[in-house]
Amino acid sequence: MTQLTTNQDFIDLEDKVAAHNYSPLPVVVEHAEGIWVTDVEGNRYLDALSGYSALNFGHRHPALVQAAKDQLDRSTLTSRAFHNDQLGPFCQALSELVGKDMILPMNTGAEAVETALKIARKWGYLVKGVQAERAKIIVMDGNFHGRTTTIISFSDDPEARDHYGPYTQGFESVPYGDLAAVEAAIDDDTVAVLVEPIQGEQGVKIPKEGFLPGLRELCTRTNVLMIADEIQAGLGRVGTTLACQYEDVEADIYTLGKALGGGIVPVSAVAADTAVMEVITPGTHGSTFGGNPLAAAVGKAVCDLLATGEHQQNAAALEGQFRESLEALIGKGVQEVRVRGLWAGIDIDPDLLSGKEACKRLARKGVLAKDTHGSTIRLAPPLTITAEELKVITDALTEVVTEAAGG
Ligand SMILES: Cc1ncc(COP(=O)(O)O)c(C=O)c1O
Repeated sequence: MTQLTTNQDFIDLEDKVAAHNYSPLPVVVEHAEGIWVTDVEGNRYLDALSGYSALNFGHRHPALVQAAKDQLDRSTLTSRAFHNDQLGPFCQALSELVGKDMILPMNTGAEAVETALKIARKWGYLVKGVQAERAKIIVMDGNFHGRTTTIISFSDDPEARDHYGPYTQGFESVPYGDLAAVEAAIDDDTVAVLVEPIQGEQGVKIPKEGFLPGLRELCTRTNVLMIADEIQAGLGRVGTTLACQYEDVEADIYTLGKALGGGIVPVSAVAADTAVMEVITPGTHGSTFGGNPLAAAVGKAVCDLLATGEHQQNAAALEGQFRESLEALIGKGVQEVRVRGLWAGIDIDPDLLSGKEACKRLARKGVLAKDTHGSTIRLAPPLTITAEELKVITDALTEVVTEAAGG
C-alpha cells in the first residue's frame, strides 16, 4: 500500500472506498484537542462546528476522556441481558438534569427519535384510547430528525427523502412555528407533536417568541404529547441546559443525543415521566448497545459537566458578542443572522458566495464551519470557547465576506 501523507492522499483513498454520502471540506483531521484540530499536514484549525454540536465540550475534554479510560479498564459492554453498574447512575444523573422521571438509553439521535415516536404511538393506544392503527403525529415543515426510513418519510427535503419510499404513514406536517396550523391539524387521533425547539439543519431557524409556550399549552389542552427533539439544540448550546428552557417550557418527552456522548461514543436517550415511559415493557423495545457501560460512564460524566451550569453560562455570556459581530455584517454581504447562545445561522448573499464556498474560504483562514442549505452557514463552536477565540471565528468570517464583496 502506498504511503498516505497529504490531505489529498487521504481524500483520494476515501473517495475510492468510502460511500459518497457526504461532501466534506478538504481537511483531513489527525489530531484534535479542545477547540482546535490539526490536519495530516500540520495545519491547525479552530473547530467552529463541533461535530454538529456533538462536541459541545470540545475535543477530548479531560474529564470525559478520563471517564472513558476508567471505564475501558472495567467493562465496556454487557447488553441489557444483564445489569451493569453504570446504567443506573447515568440515568439518575440525566433524569435530574432534564427533570424527567425515567430515561431510555439508545445510541444515535435517529434511534432516540424513533423510540420517542414509538412511545407516543403506544401511549396513544394504551393511555389516550386512540383506535388501533390510527395514531397521528404532527411534525414541522423543514424538520430534520435523522435518516431512518420512518423519519425521512416525514421530511420535506427531497435529498433526504427521494427514492426511499414506500414511506411510513401517520404523520402530518405543518409550517414550523405556526401555532394555528398545529391546532387545526390536531384531531382525536393525534398522539403527539414532534418539534425541534430550534431547527438546526434549517440554518438555526428560531421560532417566534411564544410559539413553544403556546405549543405546550395546546398539547396540554388537547391531551397530546409534546416531544422536543433537543438532539442538536440541547445540552447547553443555547445557554440553557435544554433549548425549551429558554422560554421556560417543559416538554413531555425529550430526545437527546450528540453531546450526550461527549464526542467519544454515540449516546442518545429519551427522557419522559413514568406515566408515559411505563408503556415500554420488557421485549417491546431495545438495542444491543443502548445503555452499555462505556456509553453510560461517558454520558454520566457529561451530565456532571452540565450539572455545574458553567458551560450553559459561557454560552449565554458570549451570545451578545457573537450576535453583535455577526449582525455587523448585515448589508455587507450577509442578509440575515440568527443567534442563540453559541449557535448561529448566517445567510450569506447568494450572489456573492455559496455556503460551501464560504466554508472553504473560512477553512483557508483556519476556521472550520459547515454550510446547510444554499448560502447559509452554521457556526456552533465548543461551549468551552473564550471571548478572544470567538473573535477569531467572527473576524475570519468578516474577512471572507468582505473580500467576496470586494471590500
Ligand atoms: C434535531 C436532530 N435530531 C436528530 C438527529 C439525528 O441524529 P443522528 O445523526 O445521531 O442520528 C439530528 C442530527 O443532526 C438532529 O439535528
